[in-house]
Amino acid sequence: MPHVPTTRIKRHKAAIKRSDYSRPVKCLWRDRFITPDRTLFDYGCGHGDDLAGLREDGVDCEGFDPVFRLDVTPQQADIVNIGYVLNVIEDLDERRRTLSKAWSLTERVLCVAARVVSSWADQIKGVTKSKGSGLNSVRAGIC
Ligand SMILES: C[S@@+](CC[C@H](N)C(=O)[O-])C[C@H]1O[C@@H](n2cnc3c(N)ncnc32)[C@H](O)[C@@H]1O
Repeated sequence: MPHVPTTRIKRHKAAIKRSDYSRPVKCLWRDRFITPDRTLFDYGCGHGDDLAGLREDGVDCEGFDPVFRLDVTPQQADIVNIGYVLNVIEDLDERRRTLSKAWSLTERVLCVAARVVSSWADQIKGVTKSKGSGLNSVRAGIC
């Protein structure tokens, strides 16, 4: 069973609507990990815009998100993408469990991307380190 968070941080508010592929998915294309014969599972897929694009491009893919796609049961895939999910999880144990879950679904390639505070510009935008070194932002602020 996927771990469904119960904390009071509104993590889903960190999910943006995308009109283009996320950077991790672009890298998977660029490095030719995505091929027509490989399946992909997007773990923590947010609004599912990467999935929509991948399907348009003929990729057999699915995705789970505890807020936006809770009805989908996480499934094995050749490629598993866990993009910008770990950095919204403030609890270290939960972060480990989530990464382990993604790994357990992976047949060939696990793509992990996490955002870290990198510049003064992030600080101006309201991105801060939260407990356990996860990232918090104004959009996903503690309620
Ligand atoms: C910053 S968004 C990234 C969404 C998507 N991967 C993207 O790049 O557009 C983080 C997502 O992680 C999801 N999430 C939070 N906790 C999670 C967990 N324990 N397991 C899986 N997804 C989680 C949130 O609901 C949110 O949609």
